[in-house]
Amino acid sequence: MEIREALDSELEDALFVERAAFGEEEEAELVRNLLNDPSANPLLSLLAFQNDRPVGHVLFTAAHLTTAPHLEIAILAPLAVIPEAQNQGIGGKLIETGAELLSRSGVELVFLAGYPAYYTRHGFQPASPLGFEPPYPTPEEYPDGWMVRELSGGAIASFSGKVICADALNDPKYWRED
Ligand SMILES: CC(C)(COP(=O)(O)OP(=O)(O)OC[C@H]1O[C@@H](n2cnc3c(N)ncnc32)[C@H](O)[C@@H]1OP(=O)(O)O)[C@@H](O)C(=O)NCCC(=O)NCCS
Repeated sequence: MEIREALDSELEDALFVERAAFGEEEEAELVRNLLNDPSANPLLSLLAFQNDRPVGHVLFTAAHLTTAPHLEIAILAPLAVIPEAQNQGIGGKLIETGAELLSRSGVELVFLAGYPAYYTRHGFQPASPLGFEPPYPTPEEYPDGWMVRELSGGAIASFSGKVICADALNDPKYWRED
């Protein structure tokens, strides 16, 4: 299995993975919109391949804290592994590779809205109790689903505030559970 940054020419590979994993068009459309959104930059789009076949994709996009606009932070959304390749550690490796690359480029915090049981395995912790507010309220049924991972620098202890996401993600439909 190989993980690397997606080339511009590999957009269809990323969209294929998103559609196959989620079984709908919404996440593929979100990826397409974010890749064309200047406010999402800098972004990191990673593809995982097995035998040259795309099997996983993750997108990290730029965000900022209202209280610290110059602190470099990112949002992980979406993460996708095609059904045939799930439970082989590919999702975890996409997260770790992204965290490593973002850390090297100076990003200090990564946020997401997702399954706490999955993401706590990958260094994320509930963000609301730490004083970080999501762009839109996340579902009441999942109070811990808004999560943060510190990449370096002690930023969790030093900062709090509301996270502002890229324009293409700035829609309540991406923050509620369907
Ligand atoms: C969620 C997803 C990205 C995980 O990718 P993956 O490559 O299968 O994950 P990994 O192999 O790294 O980890 C698998 C482990 O996570 C667990 N896991 C998977 N989805 C989970 C969930 N929703 N909640 C809790 N644990 C979950 C698996 O049970 C497995 O546990 P095990 O190691 O004890 O057997 C993948 O299942 C997927 O694309 N799902 C559909 C799209 C989606 O829901 N994306 C995430 C949105 S937040």
